[in-house]
Parts: sequence; C-alpha cells; structure tokens
Amino acid sequence: MSPSYPSSRPRRLRRNAALRRLATQVRLHPADLVLPMFVREGAAEPAPVRSMPGVVQHTVESLRKAAVDAVQAGVGGLAIFGVPSAKDAVGSGGIDPDGILNVALRTLRADLGDAAVLISDLCLDEFTDHGHCGVLRPDGSVDNDATLAVYADMALAQAAAGADLLGPSGMMDGQVGVIRSALDRAGHGDVGIIAYSAKYASGFYGPFRDAVESSLSGDRMSYQQDPARSVEEALHEVALDVAEGADLVMVKPAMSYLDVVRRVADAVNVPVAAYQVSGEYAMVEAAAANGWIDRDRVIAETLTSIKRAGADLVLTYWAVEVARRLG
Ligand code: PBG
Repeated sequence: MSPSYPSSRPRRLRRNAALRRLATQVRLHPADLVLPMFVREGAAEPAPVRSMPGVVQHTVESLRKAAVDAVQAGVGGLAIFGVPSAKDAVGSGGIDPDGILNVALRTLRADLGDAAVLISDLCLDEFTDHGHCGVLRPDGSVDNDATLAVYADMALAQAAAGADLLGPSGMMDGQVGVIRSALDRAGHGDVGIIAYSAKYASGFYGPFRDAVESSLSGDRMSYQQDPARSVEEALHEVALDVAEGADLVMVKPAMSYLDVVRRVADAVNVPVAAYQVSGEYAMVEAAAANGWIDRDRVIAETLTSIKRAGADLVLTYWAVEVARRLG
C-alpha cells in the first residue's frame, strides 16, 4: 500500500544541526556586510544617536579606531557619511577638500591603505541648510541639472580624497552618467560607482536624519521613488544606472522592498546591494530592548532574508557585530 504522504519528506534535511548546515543555501559572510559610519565635524567626543542605540556620530579619531575594528572583523566595506558643523544653500562643505567627509576619507585611506573598501555618500542633504539632496530653484523645487554639476565636483573631491566607490544617493536623473564622465575626464577611471538606483521615499530613514542632524522639513517625494509604483519603475531606474556606468546597484530600504531586490537581482549582471536602513535597525533594537524579540536571532533572520531575496551585499549598522559572530 502506498503511503498517504508524499515520498519526498522535506523534514529529512531538518533532522539535526549537521544536516541543516549541509543544506544551507543562504550563508552570510562578513565580506557581504558594509558598515555605514557617521563622522561629525569638530566633535570632541563620539555622540550617541538617540534613535539608533549602539550607533554614534564619530569624531575623526574615534572613526579611525572603529574603522580598524571593522576591517579586523572582516567587513566588506565602510560607507562614510559626514556631518558638517556648518551648512549652506548649495552644500559647499561636500566639495571642500577640508570638509568633514573628505577629511575622513583621506584619513582612513592613509590609515588603512588597500585593506578597506571606502564608500563615500555622494549627496547634498547632509551639507545643505534646507536638507534637500540637491540645490533649489527660487520656487523651492529641487533643480535636477544644477544639482548634477555640484555632484560632479563632489565626485572629484571624494575621488581625490581616496574613496574607492562613490555612492550617489540623491536620486537625481542622470547622476551616474555625469559622475562617471567627470571621474573619467579627471583621470579617476579606477574609482567606481555604487549607485543608489532604486531608492524609495521612505519613513524608515527617520533615525538617519537624527544621525546626520538633517535640517529637512517636508519630504523627498519629488525625487525619491514612490513606494506605490510597480517594481517595473525600479527596473527602469536600475537599467538607466547600469547604462550610465554603475559598477554596483543598490535597493533601499531593504526589508519592505525585498520584491524589488529579487527582481533587480534577476535583471542585472552587476552586484546588487541592499541597504538595511536606520529605521529597520531602530525597530529591531527597540523591540529587543523591550524584551519582545530575540535580538540576535532576528538580526540574523533579517540579513538572511535580504540575501535570500538576491542581494550580494548588505549595508547594515550591525555589520561589525554580525561579522564577529560569523568569524
Ligand atoms: C541621503 C541618504 C539617506 C540615507 C542614506 N543616504 C537619507 C535620505 O535619503 O533621506 C538613509 C540611510 C538610513 O536611513 O539608514 N544622503
């Protein structure tokens, strides 16, 4: 008599830890993890970020030490964000070679040589007094093409400071192409671009705005993607960036956009990054602090889900902790 259950029994591979280990298909590795780091101009002490327990705004000195720790833990890269002490309408601090982000990049490059992949945030929002990712027209709208000219100058400053990969995160149309040609014309053909290609206007960026002391009032709906559009729009954005010379593409945020991560991973032949953003971090930390979830287990589960969706690398504020656990 044939059994009433199917002959394939998925539970065979779940029977013990050794079998489960053998059958694992999504394995996290320290090199897949990129650590976003904040460095504040003129800071005397590292300052905790209120809405991101465990994350600080570094001084240049504390950044140097944390970067060495991260490299020793085996993380794949460091994504550096600058918090300037003065902001203006055009974000001059982002272009100034002595601006905090460029100083930090130069310092880390000198400390770490080729042992670390340095990724610079290429966006104006940290440097503008209005908090937008670009420069404004008199009517207050973000001027795409005027912003591109500033991004080109920022790209040259970051390349000169020693960044390996530039991360344009402002969602201006044409940003990758303009940055690529500016780099090439200036002899920075080896500097790459990790394009924030599918970046949504998201409430999950809330804690990040504390971390960079953003002065934004209003929102970024006129340049970042609408979460209510179909995945096809993201694929269009990604295709444009790849055609313009993106070396890697990114989807952001991660967890609420795993369908986008999967479709992008299926569509492109360049590495795909996903950014597990500040709000994703804060939610888990807050629930864990209340004793409502098993923190370490949930962290691992979130990262596994992002990789399973197709991300080759993940930007995560837990990068060092998880890399150490894996190592
Ligand atoms: C823009 C930028 C943002 C984040 C990364 N780059 C903020 C925004 O677009 O409003 C958010 C990252 C996070 O929430 O962790 N420079």
